Amino acid sequence: MTVTLAIETSCDDTCAAIVAGAHATSGGTAVSNVVASQLEHDRFGGVVPEIAARGHLLQMQPVIDEALDQAQMTLGDVDQVAVTTGPGLTGALLIGVASAKAIAAARGLPLVAVDHLHGHVCANFLEPQPLAPPFLCLVASGGHTFLAAVHGYTAADVEVLGRTLDDAAGEAFDKAARMLGLGFPGGPALQRLAEAGDADAFPLPTAEKVRGLDFSFAGLKTALLYTIRDLGDEARHARAADLAASFQHAVVEQLAIRVERALAQTGLAQLALGGGVAANGPLRERMTSLGVPCSIPPISLCTDNAAMIASAAQWADVLPHDDALRAEVYATGNGRLS
Ligand code: KG4
Ligand code: ZN
Repeated sequence: MTVTLAIETSCDDTCAAIVAGAHATSGGTAVSNVVASQLEHDRFGGVVPEIAARGHLLQMQPVIDEALDQAQMTLGDVDQVAVTTGPGLTGALLIGVASAKAIAAARGLPLVAVDHLHGHVCANFLEPQPLAPPFLCLVASGGHTFLAAVHGYTAADVEVLGRTLDDAAGEAFDKAARMLGLGFPGGPALQRLAEAGDADAFPLPTAEKVRGLDFSFAGLKTALLYTIRDLGDEARHARAADLAASFQHAVVEQLAIRVERALAQTGLAQLALGGGVAANGPLRERMTSLGVPCSIPPISLCTDNAAMIASAAQWADVLPHDDALRAEVYATGNGRLS
Protein backbone atom coordinates (compact mmCIF):
# COMPACT_ATOMS: atom_id res chain seq x y z
CA MET A 1 0.00 0.00 0.00
CA THR A 2 1.57 3.29 -1.12
CA VAL A 3 1.79 6.04 1.51
CA THR A 4 1.99 9.56 0.09
CA LEU A 5 3.09 12.66 1.96
CA ALA A 6 1.57 15.62 0.09
CA ILE A 7 2.38 19.30 0.45
CA GLU A 8 0.31 22.26 -0.80
CA THR A 9 1.32 25.94 -0.45
CA SER A 10 -0.07 27.61 -3.58
CA CYS A 11 -1.87 30.44 -1.78
CA ASP A 12 -2.23 31.30 1.91
CA ASP A 13 -2.89 27.88 3.48
CA THR A 14 0.03 25.72 4.56
CA CYS A 15 -1.13 22.13 3.99
CA ALA A 16 0.28 18.64 4.49
CA ALA A 17 -1.49 15.29 4.36
CA ILE A 18 -0.82 11.58 4.57
CA VAL A 19 -2.88 9.57 2.09
CA ALA A 20 -2.73 5.79 1.76
CA GLY A 21 -4.17 3.07 -0.42
CA ALA A 22 -4.60 4.80 -3.77
CA HIS A 23 -5.26 2.50 -6.71
CA ALA A 24 -6.45 2.67 -10.31
CA THR A 25 -9.90 4.06 -9.43
CA SER A 26 -9.27 5.66 -6.04
CA GLY A 27 -7.11 8.53 -4.83
CA GLY A 28 -6.81 6.76 -1.49
CA THR A 29 -7.82 7.51 2.10
CA ALA A 30 -6.77 10.73 3.84
CA VAL A 31 -5.23 9.42 7.05
CA SER A 32 -4.42 13.00 8.05
CA ASN A 33 -5.11 16.33 6.36
CA VAL A 34 -3.63 19.33 8.17
CA VAL A 35 -4.21 22.98 7.16
CA ALA A 36 -2.70 26.03 8.86
CA SER A 37 -4.55 29.12 7.66
CA GLN A 38 -2.94 32.53 7.76
CA LEU A 39 -5.10 35.16 9.40
CA GLU A 40 -2.57 37.97 8.89
CA HIS A 41 -4.10 38.86 5.51
CA ASP A 42 -7.42 39.94 7.04
CA ARG A 43 -6.45 43.56 7.61
CA PHE A 44 -5.24 43.94 4.00
CA GLY A 45 -8.53 42.65 2.55
CA GLY A 46 -6.77 40.02 0.42
CA VAL A 47 -3.77 37.71 0.28
CA VAL A 48 -0.38 39.49 0.38
CA PRO A 49 2.14 37.25 -1.50
CA GLU A 50 5.18 38.14 0.64
CA ILE A 51 3.30 37.52 3.87
CA ALA A 52 1.97 34.22 2.49
CA ALA A 53 5.48 32.98 1.64
CA ARG A 54 6.81 33.99 5.04
CA GLY A 55 3.88 32.27 6.75
CA HIS A 56 4.59 29.04 4.85
CA LEU A 57 8.23 29.21 5.90
CA LEU A 58 7.18 29.35 9.56
CA GLN A 59 4.38 26.78 9.32
CA MET A 60 5.70 24.19 6.88
CA GLN A 61 7.71 22.03 9.26
CA PRO A 62 5.13 22.03 12.11
CA VAL A 63 2.35 21.21 9.64
CA ILE A 64 4.28 18.26 8.15
CA ASP A 65 5.09 17.03 11.69
CA GLU A 66 1.42 17.31 12.64
CA ALA A 67 0.32 15.38 9.52
CA LEU A 68 2.77 12.57 10.38
CA ASP A 69 1.79 12.62 14.08
CA GLN A 70 -1.94 12.42 13.33
CA ALA A 71 -1.27 9.49 10.99
CA GLN A 72 0.95 7.92 13.66
CA MET A 73 3.73 7.64 11.10
CA THR A 74 7.29 8.85 10.59
CA LEU A 75 9.04 9.81 7.35
CA GLY A 76 10.27 6.19 7.31
CA ASP A 77 6.69 5.10 6.49
CA VAL A 78 6.37 7.43 3.49
CA ASP A 79 6.77 5.95 -0.03
CA GLN A 80 6.51 9.12 -2.11
CA VAL A 81 6.25 12.89 -1.79
CA ALA A 82 3.71 14.88 -3.81
CA VAL A 83 3.72 18.66 -4.10
CA THR A 84 1.79 21.42 -5.87
CA THR A 85 4.08 23.08 -8.42
CA GLY A 86 1.46 25.55 -9.75
CA PRO A 87 -0.54 27.54 -10.49
CA GLY A 88 -0.31 29.91 -7.53
CA LEU A 89 1.83 32.56 -5.87
CA THR A 90 5.43 31.93 -6.87
CA GLY A 91 7.00 32.67 -3.48
CA ALA A 92 4.37 30.57 -1.70
CA LEU A 93 4.79 27.62 -4.09
CA LEU A 94 8.58 27.74 -3.74
CA ILE A 95 8.41 27.04 0.01
CA GLY A 96 6.33 23.89 -0.48
CA VAL A 97 8.39 22.69 -3.44
CA ALA A 98 11.71 23.29 -1.65
CA SER A 99 10.42 21.36 1.38
CA ALA A 100 9.20 18.47 -0.78
CA LYS A 101 12.49 18.33 -2.68
CA ALA A 102 14.47 18.31 0.56
CA ILE A 103 12.45 15.41 2.02
CA ALA A 104 12.53 13.44 -1.24
CA ALA A 105 16.28 13.95 -1.66
CA ALA A 106 17.14 13.18 1.96
CA ARG A 107 15.03 10.00 2.05
CA GLY A 108 15.63 8.90 -1.55
CA LEU A 109 11.89 9.07 -2.29
CA PRO A 110 10.12 9.68 -5.62
CA LEU A 111 8.75 13.21 -6.07
CA VAL A 112 5.42 13.82 -7.87
CA ALA A 113 4.62 17.28 -9.26
CA VAL A 114 0.90 18.07 -9.10
CA ASP A 115 -1.15 20.81 -10.74
CA HIS A 116 -3.33 22.58 -8.17
CA LEU A 117 -6.42 22.57 -10.40
CA HIS A 118 -6.04 18.87 -11.12
CA GLY A 119 -5.89 18.52 -7.33
CA HIS A 120 -9.28 20.23 -6.87
CA VAL A 121 -10.81 17.81 -9.39
CA CYS A 122 -9.12 14.81 -7.71
CA ALA A 123 -10.63 15.67 -4.31
CA ASN A 124 -13.60 13.80 -5.78
CA PHE A 125 -11.56 10.59 -6.12
CA LEU A 126 -10.75 10.25 -2.40
CA GLU A 127 -12.36 7.58 -0.21
CA PRO A 128 -14.89 6.79 1.17
CA GLN A 129 -16.90 7.45 -1.99
CA PRO A 130 -14.55 8.01 -4.92
CA LEU A 131 -16.49 9.36 -7.88
CA ALA A 132 -16.07 7.58 -11.21
CA PRO A 133 -15.55 9.69 -14.37
CA PRO A 134 -17.05 10.97 -16.57
CA PHE A 135 -18.58 13.95 -14.79
CA LEU A 136 -18.88 17.71 -15.03
CA CYS A 137 -16.82 19.53 -12.39
CA LEU A 138 -17.32 23.11 -11.21
CA VAL A 139 -14.42 24.47 -9.18
CA ALA A 140 -15.08 27.87 -7.61
CA SER A 141 -12.58 29.23 -5.12
CA GLY A 142 -10.92 32.51 -4.15
CA GLY A 143 -8.29 32.03 -6.84
CA HIS A 144 -10.03 30.06 -9.60
CA THR A 145 -13.39 29.47 -11.23
CA PHE A 146 -13.65 26.92 -14.01
CA LEU A 147 -15.94 24.29 -15.42
CA ALA A 148 -14.46 21.06 -16.77
CA ALA A 149 -15.57 17.85 -18.39
CA VAL A 150 -13.68 15.15 -16.49
CA HIS A 151 -13.28 12.24 -18.88
CA GLY A 152 -10.78 10.28 -16.79
CA TYR A 153 -8.30 10.57 -13.94
CA THR A 154 -5.23 12.32 -15.37
CA ALA A 155 -4.80 16.05 -15.90
CA ALA A 156 -4.91 15.40 -19.65
CA ASP A 157 -8.38 13.90 -19.18
CA VAL A 158 -9.69 17.15 -17.68
CA GLU A 159 -11.14 19.25 -20.47
CA VAL A 160 -11.66 22.84 -19.34
CA LEU A 161 -14.91 24.05 -20.92
CA GLY A 162 -15.05 27.53 -19.42
CA ARG A 163 -13.27 29.74 -16.95
CA THR A 164 -13.63 33.18 -15.45
CA LEU A 165 -12.59 36.07 -17.65
CA ASP A 166 -11.81 38.28 -14.64
CA ASP A 167 -12.39 37.63 -10.91
CA ALA A 168 -12.89 34.21 -9.36
CA ALA A 169 -16.29 33.61 -7.72
CA GLY A 170 -14.76 33.56 -4.22
CA GLU A 171 -12.86 36.74 -4.95
CA ALA A 172 -16.14 38.36 -6.01
CA PHE A 173 -17.73 37.25 -2.72
CA ASP A 174 -14.74 38.70 -0.83
CA LYS A 175 -14.91 42.04 -2.66
CA ALA A 176 -18.69 42.32 -2.23
CA ALA A 177 -18.32 41.52 1.46
CA ARG A 178 -15.77 44.29 1.76
CA MET A 179 -18.18 46.77 0.13
CA LEU A 180 -20.75 45.71 2.72
CA GLY A 181 -18.29 46.27 5.57
CA LEU A 182 -17.70 42.58 6.32
CA GLY A 183 -14.34 40.94 7.11
CA PHE A 184 -12.09 38.66 5.01
CA PRO A 185 -12.72 35.99 3.80
CA GLY A 186 -16.06 37.46 2.94
CA GLY A 187 -17.99 34.49 1.54
CA PRO A 188 -19.15 32.95 4.83
CA ALA A 189 -19.94 36.36 6.38
CA LEU A 190 -21.89 37.46 3.29
CA GLN A 191 -23.87 34.20 3.31
CA ARG A 192 -24.80 34.75 6.97
CA LEU A 193 -25.90 38.34 6.31
CA ALA A 194 -27.90 37.21 3.25
CA GLU A 195 -30.00 34.83 5.35
CA ALA A 196 -32.11 37.76 6.57
CA GLY A 197 -32.34 39.37 3.13
CA ASP A 198 -34.53 39.25 0.03
CA ALA A 199 -32.66 37.81 -2.97
CA ASP A 200 -35.02 39.58 -5.40
CA ALA A 201 -34.65 43.02 -3.79
CA PHE A 202 -31.99 44.23 -6.26
CA PRO A 203 -31.82 42.61 -9.71
CA LEU A 204 -28.07 42.21 -10.37
CA PRO A 205 -26.47 40.91 -13.60
CA THR A 206 -25.46 37.30 -14.25
CA ALA A 207 -22.99 38.12 -17.06
CA GLU A 208 -25.67 37.55 -19.71
CA LYS A 209 -23.39 39.01 -22.40
CA VAL A 210 -20.70 36.38 -21.81
CA ARG A 211 -21.72 33.59 -24.12
CA GLY A 212 -20.71 29.98 -23.85
CA LEU A 213 -19.37 28.55 -20.64
CA ASP A 214 -17.06 31.31 -19.42
CA PHE A 215 -17.76 33.35 -16.30
CA SER A 216 -17.39 37.04 -15.48
CA PHE A 217 -17.92 38.72 -12.13
CA ALA A 218 -16.51 42.20 -12.83
CA GLY A 219 -19.83 43.61 -14.07
CA LEU A 220 -21.69 42.24 -11.06
CA LYS A 221 -19.14 43.80 -8.73
CA THR A 222 -19.54 47.20 -10.41
CA ALA A 223 -23.34 46.88 -10.36
CA LEU A 224 -23.25 46.23 -6.62
CA LEU A 225 -20.93 49.18 -6.09
CA TYR A 226 -23.28 51.54 -7.97
CA THR A 227 -26.34 50.15 -6.20
CA ILE A 228 -24.72 50.76 -2.82
CA ARG A 229 -23.60 54.25 -3.84
CA ASP A 230 -27.05 55.19 -5.12
CA LEU A 231 -28.71 54.03 -1.91
CA GLY A 232 -26.74 56.44 0.26
CA ASP A 233 -25.33 55.76 3.71
CA GLU A 234 -28.50 55.23 5.71
CA ALA A 235 -30.39 52.98 3.29
CA ARG A 236 -27.24 51.02 2.53
CA HIS A 237 -27.00 49.95 6.18
CA ALA A 238 -30.71 49.30 6.50
CA ARG A 239 -30.71 47.16 3.33
CA ALA A 240 -27.37 45.39 3.83
CA ALA A 241 -29.03 41.96 4.10
CA ASP A 242 -31.03 42.56 0.89
CA LEU A 243 -27.86 43.65 -0.90
CA ALA A 244 -26.00 40.54 0.29
CA ALA A 245 -28.85 38.20 -0.68
CA SER A 246 -29.23 39.79 -4.12
CA PHE A 247 -25.49 39.58 -4.78
CA GLN A 248 -25.30 35.96 -3.64
CA HIS A 249 -28.30 35.10 -5.82
CA ALA A 250 -26.61 36.64 -8.89
CA VAL A 251 -23.41 34.63 -8.32
CA VAL A 252 -25.30 31.37 -7.76
CA GLU A 253 -27.46 31.96 -10.84
CA GLN A 254 -24.47 32.75 -13.04
CA LEU A 255 -22.78 29.51 -11.93
CA ALA A 256 -25.99 27.50 -12.32
CA ILE A 257 -26.73 28.86 -15.82
CA ARG A 258 -23.28 27.73 -17.04
CA VAL A 259 -23.56 24.34 -15.37
CA GLU A 260 -26.99 23.73 -16.92
CA ARG A 261 -25.65 24.78 -20.31
CA ALA A 262 -22.62 22.48 -19.96
CA LEU A 263 -24.77 19.52 -18.87
CA ALA A 264 -26.96 20.00 -21.95
CA GLN A 265 -23.97 20.42 -24.28
CA THR A 266 -21.92 17.48 -23.02
CA GLY A 267 -24.66 15.06 -22.04
CA LEU A 268 -22.71 14.33 -18.84
CA ALA A 269 -24.92 12.77 -16.19
CA GLN A 270 -23.01 13.61 -13.00
CA LEU A 271 -21.91 16.87 -11.43
CA ALA A 272 -19.18 17.50 -8.84
CA LEU A 273 -18.24 20.68 -6.99
CA GLY A 274 -14.93 21.90 -5.61
CA GLY A 275 -13.27 25.02 -4.21
CA GLY A 276 -14.15 27.05 -1.12
CA VAL A 277 -17.31 28.55 -2.65
CA ALA A 278 -18.80 25.02 -2.60
CA ALA A 279 -19.37 25.74 1.11
CA ASN A 280 -22.09 28.20 0.10
CA GLY A 281 -25.51 26.91 1.19
CA PRO A 282 -27.70 28.39 -1.57
CA LEU A 283 -25.14 27.25 -4.20
CA ARG A 284 -25.25 23.69 -2.87
CA GLU A 285 -29.05 23.72 -2.90
CA ARG A 286 -29.18 25.05 -6.45
CA MET A 287 -26.61 22.56 -7.75
CA THR A 288 -28.30 19.59 -6.17
CA SER A 289 -31.58 20.48 -7.90
CA LEU A 290 -30.37 20.43 -11.51
CA GLY A 291 -31.64 16.94 -12.25
CA VAL A 292 -28.32 15.05 -12.14
CA PRO A 293 -26.59 13.57 -9.08
CA CYS A 294 -24.34 16.23 -7.53
CA SER A 295 -21.35 15.17 -5.49
CA ILE A 296 -19.82 17.64 -3.06
CA PRO A 297 -16.76 16.48 -1.10
CA PRO A 298 -16.61 17.51 2.59
CA ILE A 299 -15.68 21.19 2.85
CA SER A 300 -12.23 20.31 4.21
CA LEU A 301 -11.55 18.66 0.83
CA CYS A 302 -13.18 21.45 -1.24
CA THR A 303 -11.03 24.23 0.21
CA ASP A 304 -7.27 24.14 -0.39
CA ASN A 305 -5.77 21.03 1.20
CA ALA A 306 -2.97 18.52 0.59
CA ALA A 307 -5.11 15.34 0.55
CA MET A 308 -6.42 16.34 -2.88
CA ILE A 309 -2.81 16.80 -4.05
CA ALA A 310 -1.96 13.27 -2.88
CA SER A 311 -5.03 12.00 -4.72
CA ALA A 312 -3.93 13.71 -7.95
CA ALA A 313 -0.45 12.24 -7.51
CA GLN A 314 -1.92 8.82 -8.21
CA TRP A 315 -2.46 9.95 -11.82
CA ALA A 316 0.42 12.42 -12.21
CA ASP A 317 3.95 11.72 -13.43
CA VAL A 318 6.63 10.77 -10.94
CA LEU A 319 9.63 12.97 -11.74
CA PRO A 320 12.68 11.04 -12.86
CA HIS A 321 15.20 11.05 -10.00
CA ASP A 322 17.72 13.28 -11.80
CA ASP A 323 15.02 15.86 -12.62
CA ALA A 324 13.34 15.96 -9.22
CA LEU A 325 15.57 18.68 -7.80
CA ARG A 326 15.09 20.74 -10.95
CA ALA A 327 11.28 20.80 -10.69
CA GLU A 328 10.07 24.37 -11.19
CA VAL A 329 7.01 26.25 -10.03
CA TYR A 330 4.62 28.10 -12.35
CA ALA A 331 2.35 31.00 -11.43
CA THR A 332 -0.11 30.48 -14.30
CA GLY A 333 -0.39 28.50 -17.49
CA ASN A 334 1.15 25.05 -17.62
CA GLY A 335 -0.50 24.61 -21.00
CA ARG A 336 -3.06 22.09 -19.78
CA LEU A 337 -5.40 23.08 -17.00
CA SER A 338 -4.30 26.63 -16.33
O1 KG4 B 1 -10.70 27.11 -2.00
P1 KG4 B 1 -10.47 28.21 -1.02
O2 KG4 B 1 -10.42 27.86 0.43
O3 KG4 B 1 -9.13 28.96 -1.30
C1 KG4 B 1 -8.71 29.38 -2.54
O4 KG4 B 1 -8.06 28.57 -3.27
O5 KG4 B 1 -9.02 30.53 -2.87
O6 KG4 B 1 -11.61 29.27 -1.29
C2 KG4 B 1 -11.73 30.43 -0.50
C3 KG4 B 1 -12.85 31.26 -1.07
C4 KG4 B 1 -12.91 32.65 -0.45
O7 KG4 B 1 -13.01 33.59 -1.47
C5 KG4 B 1 -14.17 32.59 0.40
O8 KG4 B 1 -14.81 33.83 0.52
C6 KG4 B 1 -15.02 31.59 -0.36
O9 KG4 B 1 -14.11 30.62 -0.82
N1 KG4 B 1 -16.04 30.98 0.50
C7 KG4 B 1 -17.36 31.19 0.35
C8 KG4 B 1 -18.00 30.51 1.42
N2 KG4 B 1 -17.03 29.91 2.18
C9 KG4 B 1 -15.84 30.21 1.59
N3 KG4 B 1 -18.06 31.87 -0.57
C10 KG4 B 1 -19.38 31.89 -0.45
N4 KG4 B 1 -20.07 31.30 0.56
C11 KG4 B 1 -19.42 30.59 1.50
N5 KG4 B 1 -20.11 30.00 2.48
ZN1 ZN C 1 -7.51 26.17 -4.71
